[in-house]
Amino acid sequence: MLDKYERNINYLRVSITDRCNLRCTYCRPKEGISLKGHEDILRYEQILRVVGQAVKMGFIKVRITGGEPLVRRGFVEFVQRLKKIEGLEDISLTTNGILLERFAKDIFAAGVRRINISLDSLDADRFREITGGGNLDDVLRGIDAADKAGFAPIKINTVVIRGFNDDEALEFARLAMKKPYQIRFIELMPVSMVNINQPREFMPNAELLKRIQKHFRLEESEKKKQSADGPARIFSLAGGAGEIGFINPVSDHFCSTCNRLRLTADGKLRACLLNESEVDLKKALARNCSDEELAGLIDRAIMLKPEKHDLDCTDRNLKKCYRDMSDIGG
Ligand code: GTP
Ligand code: 5AD
Ligand code: SF4
Repeated sequence: MLDKYERNINYLRVSITDRCNLRCTYCRPKEGISLKGHEDILRYEQILRVVGQAVKMGFIKVRITGGEPLVRRGFVEFVQRLKKIEGLEDISLTTNGILLERFAKDIFAAGVRRINISLDSLDADRFREITGGGNLDDVLRGIDAADKAGFAPIKINTVVIRGFNDDEALEFARLAMKKPYQIRFIELMPVSMVNINQPREFMPNAELLKRIQKHFRLEESEKKKQSADGPARIFSLAGGAGEIGFINPVSDHFCSTCNRLRLTADGKLRACLLNESEVDLKKALARNCSDEELAGLIDRAIMLKPEKHDLDCTDRNLKKCYRDMSDIGG
């Protein structure tokens, strides 16, 4: 379906839970968050109904996010049911990888092929610090299990924090030389900012790219430049097994190619990650609304999509604060 700016909105990001087994500083407020109860979040049946309707309206891709999606009970069965929706061409997953070793094979068997895994540091102590107690080895074993299970592509998401992990850029590039992963450096977004000092900790990806280019021969992927299905600029590494990518939501708007709508765990359709406009589906689903009404609500959310977000990285007082990332699913 086309939005007001003639973008074809065909990609639904579905957060199935706001719960998480990690507490990354940039994602969760320090004082903790009030977790939603079972009655506050959509049941799997309700999510399946929304996806089914969206697919009838032209959506072809679904990415499952969280919180951490693998902590929700019945996840594999949910994916099996999602897979049965006719017309849904692509189901992908974004995870922190902690439980991946246990679930990789089953998720692959259920039909997921594309997986994105968060990994902000390759140093065990730093990893523990940024994730509020996470074990790096769990994630590394999870990535390995995903590789062995056959997932492709495997994308690694690394949020860049100046003074914390920017010195690991070359280490990550070396990993992409060795393994067939796409390592994507993501600019820190001012979302749930309680724990981050955006002006001090934000680092534009252009700076990191220059640093990596001093040591590696990078070539921007032509195929990727032309396709509008993702926000990353992708580069191949001469002689390397993998690739590196840059997601620049702050320094470089990619909004003109945005094809996404987001379903939050509590049943709101969110028009844009960085804009508070939402349409509530939960109430309508609870009274078993008609398909026409549901379609109308989805349509309304698409029409709410702004032309672009208004983050400005040159604003040193940048202090936007949106709903927690763990609510929205990234
Ligand atoms: P694919 O293109 O399907 O691989 O997914 P993706 O890269 O969008 O998914 P992922 O969940 O791995 O997100 C990677 C990063 O991009 C996260 O930090 C997201 O918050 C960010 N991101 C994804 N979509 C958008 C978007 O529409 N707007 C903004 N500003 N950031 C986004
Ligand atoms: N800025 C940039 N990326 C973020 N993510 C979570 N919070 C932020 C933020 N404030 C990333 C996670 C995950 C993806 C879904 O979103 O690291 O990989
Ligand atoms: Fe959990 Fe993702 Fe937030 Fe980390 S970034 S705490 S993995 S929801």
